[in-house]
Amino acid sequence: MRKVFGGAGGGGGRRTKMINANQNVLFLATILALCVISFVHVFLFPLYDVDQSKKSPTKNFYDFEQSQLCLNSVNNVKHRRTSSWKRLRCPRYGIVTIMQGGRLGNQMWEYASVWALARRTGLEPYVPRCIHVKLEQIFEQLSVPNYEEIGDCPIDLARFVRSVDAWNYTNQSIVLPRYSTHPDVVLTWVQDIIQEFTFKRRFQVKSQNVLRLAAATSYTKKPKASSSGTTDLVYVGIHVRRTDYIGYLWRKHAARPASPAFFHTAMDIFEGRYERVLFVVVSDDPAWCHDNLNMRPNVFVSSRTIPNAPALDLAILASCNHSIFDYGTFGIWGAILAGGDTIYFNLTKHSSARVGRLLSNWTPLN
Ligand SMILES: *[C@@H]1O[C@H](CO)[C@@H](O)[C@H](O)[C@H]1NC(C)=O
Ligand SMILES: *[C@@H]1O[C@H](CO)[C@@H](O)[C@H](O)[C@H]1NC(C)=O
Ligand SMILES: *[C@@H]1O[C@H](CO)[C@@H](O)[C@H](O)[C@H]1NC(C)=O
Ligand SMILES: *[C@@H]1O[C@H](CO)[C@@H](O)[C@H](O)[C@H]1NC(C)=O
Repeated sequence: MRKVFGGAGGGGGRRTKMINANQNVLFLATILALCVISFVHVFLFPLYDVDQSKKSPTKNFYDFEQSQLCLNSVNNVKHRRTSSWKRLRCPRYGIVTIMQGGRLGNQMWEYASVWALARRTGLEPYVPRCIHVKLEQIFEQLSVPNYEEIGDCPIDLARFVRSVDAWNYTNQSIVLPRYSTHPDVVLTWVQDIIQEFTFKRRFQVKSQNVLRLAAATSYTKKPKASSSGTTDLVYVGIHVRRTDYIGYLWRKHAARPASPAFFHTAMDIFEGRYERVLFVVVSDDPAWCHDNLNMRPNVFVSSRTIPNAPALDLAILASCNHSIFDYGTFGIWGAILAGGDTIYFNLTKHSSARVGRLLSNWTPLN
């Protein structure tokens, strides 16, 4: 009896446990559902402000910046003021501004497009803080103000057009789409844009240290005692863009990536021009460069396997005397800022070709 009772009691206990277990599962499922719901809300709809802005219309430039220009929230952007005083007036006529998109090279074009179109049109330039805050960590002399200056000013969205071609009156404003490049306007003042993108001192120091290390650890011909003047070491920066860009090239241009032969032919050209040449390679795929470009004694790949910070890589390219690159906005800027002779991969419909046609010392190579 006891045994049976005990057994029945045990069965009852198991049933209670099962009910408990069911309740636990239900409880866990509820928690999980709540987690999923809050995750979706917080991470998949980060632009809550945009949803709200549909109800409350864009009233001032800060609203506009947040809802239309910047990809992420700019409200808690830590920002160094470009000037110690707030602008005392709002824009009287139109402004030129732009939407944020892409990485460093794209955002440099976005900044430069605003800078150049303001010069061309006479409108006031303003870049959104999300772009400005990124660039001011790297560059010293940015002259274009950001929305801190006009954020509270009222805005009339009816006065905005989306390209310089649609722009007719000085009372109209221009908001350029993300990824805009206006090389024909920007490069009208190429020395000025180089000045605009002057690196902060710590990047200049770091990049010169990399060049010194490259010179110390790579073999280059010793200067001939007899020759004069032309025996200075000539630094040629090489940018090799690979990883995700290979897929992009294929989808967008149906093009294959530049082969090692492209880089070697370009290197041969520079070795034919100068007595002592040192090639300094930066890349998002340094391992590929070690395997494919490093067979010459005068090649220095600036990192082993993990790429450097983009700002440092750009500073290294800019401090070289001449350039070789394949494609991509990053390589284009490296070569513009270096300001020397440039050999680039021949892709006729690519932005590098649009830039290359505007600069007399740039040469395409197959
Ligand atoms: C600007 O002028 C052109 C013709 O000159 C016209 O087609 C276009 O609609 C105008 N754009 C605006 C925004 O007024
Ligand atoms: C432009 O705007 C200013 C101030 O809003 C106004 O005084 C001026 O008349 C406008 N000019 C034109 C051509 O619409
Ligand atoms: C070449 O680049 C090096 C490193 O930045 C620099 O010290 C040198 O002055 C440059 N040479 C010329 C001719 O510009
Ligand atoms: C670049 O490519 C185009 C089209 O493929 C070709 O017509 C042109 O000759 C090439 N340029 C050079 C310098 O190889």
